[in-house]
Amino acid sequence: MERMIKKIRHLRGEITPPADKSISHRSVMFASLAKGQSRIKNFLWAQDPINSLNAMKSLGVEIEIMDSKEIIINGKGLQSLKEPDNVIDCGNSGTTIRLLSGIVAGQPFLTVLTGDDSLRQRPMRRVIEPLRLMGSNIFGRLNDRFPPLVVKGNYLKGIKYIMPVASAQVKSAILLAGIYANGETEVIEPHKSRDHTERMLKNMGAEIQLNAITKKASKEHNNEAYSIKIKPPQDELSSIDMTIPNDFSSAAFFIAGACLVPGSEILIKNVGLNPTRTGFLDVLMQMGANIEILNVKQQGGEPVGDIVCKTSNKLKAVTVQGSLIPRLIDEFPVLCVMATQTDGKTIIKDAKELRVKESDRIKAMVTELKKMGTPIEEFEDGVIINGPCKLRGAEVYSYKDHRIAMALTIAGLIAERPTLIKEAQCVDISFPQFYELLEMLQK
Ligand code: S3P
Repeated sequence: MERMIKKIRHLRGEITPPADKSISHRSVMFASLAKGQSRIKNFLWAQDPINSLNAMKSLGVEIEIMDSKEIIINGKGLQSLKEPDNVIDCGNSGTTIRLLSGIVAGQPFLTVLTGDDSLRQRPMRRVIEPLRLMGSNIFGRLNDRFPPLVVKGNYLKGIKYIMPVASAQVKSAILLAGIYANGETEVIEPHKSRDHTERMLKNMGAEIQLNAITKKASKEHNNEAYSIKIKPPQDELSSIDMTIPNDFSSAAFFIAGACLVPGSEILIKNVGLNPTRTGFLDVLMQMGANIEILNVKQQGGEPVGDIVCKTSNKLKAVTVQGSLIPRLIDEFPVLCVMATQTDGKTIIKDAKELRVKESDRIKAMVTELKKMGTPIEEFEDGVIINGPCKLRGAEVYSYKDHRIAMALTIAGLIAERPTLIKEAQCVDISFPQFYELLEMLQK
């Protein structure tokens, strides 16, 4: 599907973005391991978390779908999963395949995990290596580089593992395997990545210990590493009853849109504000954006609040690097769009991980924003964007990557002449109502 995007007059009104994707995946996976009935409200009904839900069903878990938003998971305990009778298709979802690899690493049966063309090009050695050290028989295509993954579960032992890159998916895979391991498992990450796994498992009674380790990296910078320890539960994990917050990463496109389109003012309701996710807000504040946070409260073990954004003039360029990168990892595409309208050089570095997301997001944004007239330079680990510049509409490609499609759509809202987004259907991966909500705010 293609989408034609035109320059608009304003974005005005109130929206409720879709539920958090990361938390939706975790809710269905972790509740499947618990003993008892879990009720999950505001589950994200989009392609990625549906893959996690179907994967747990194929592992024998009983899941009832009450309506489009609520699911009930009848957990039968840690040892209740069954060998799937077919290959598990994780679709486009890195979170499904990596977290699941940790869950099945210690199961007494064979599991084969695969995915779509994009997922089968994404690096898996990062989970294979630690899980193998724990004792799992796990293999990947092309000498352990890519999916499909074949896992023949085994008795696991706890390890101490120093992660080379901050990744919540890898950290979570190791912690989940740690639940099934003998002894304590410790993961050390170079910077703190999203901590939804730690929060949710703790709420379910898992024994988790968190510690910041501050190393003096240089005169100017402290390098904050994080240690997470988990012990196998004495008994079972308890079931959960939770309402999933709305997704900050989905809200980010509307925050950027409201800042950039003249005459805009929007209210975004009930958005997850976990500090491991909101680096994009910190950067926008530094740029001088007109943003206010209201009604902060706790929901499902996570902070949530409302965000008010208005058109922001005279935005300043900033440098984004180091520990900020994992805190805005999914906002890179839309941050590039913001940078086209800031005054000066926006520098984004230490972000090499973006090359191995649903697409090579550095290359994708450089190629497509150039077509729209942006002075943007590509580096191995980031970009430099020289703003402000006048965007012009062009025919651009999403690379079938949901966040690239949505970021280019926001660019199209402020470009002279129409922008044609090729393969825009991929927004369904995380945000099926994206274009509908966008139209609503233009009225
Ligand atoms: C996610 C972790 C991040 C993020 C992805 C979702 C998660 O990936 O980019 O969209 O739910 O744990 P990495 O762990 O590869 O950084």
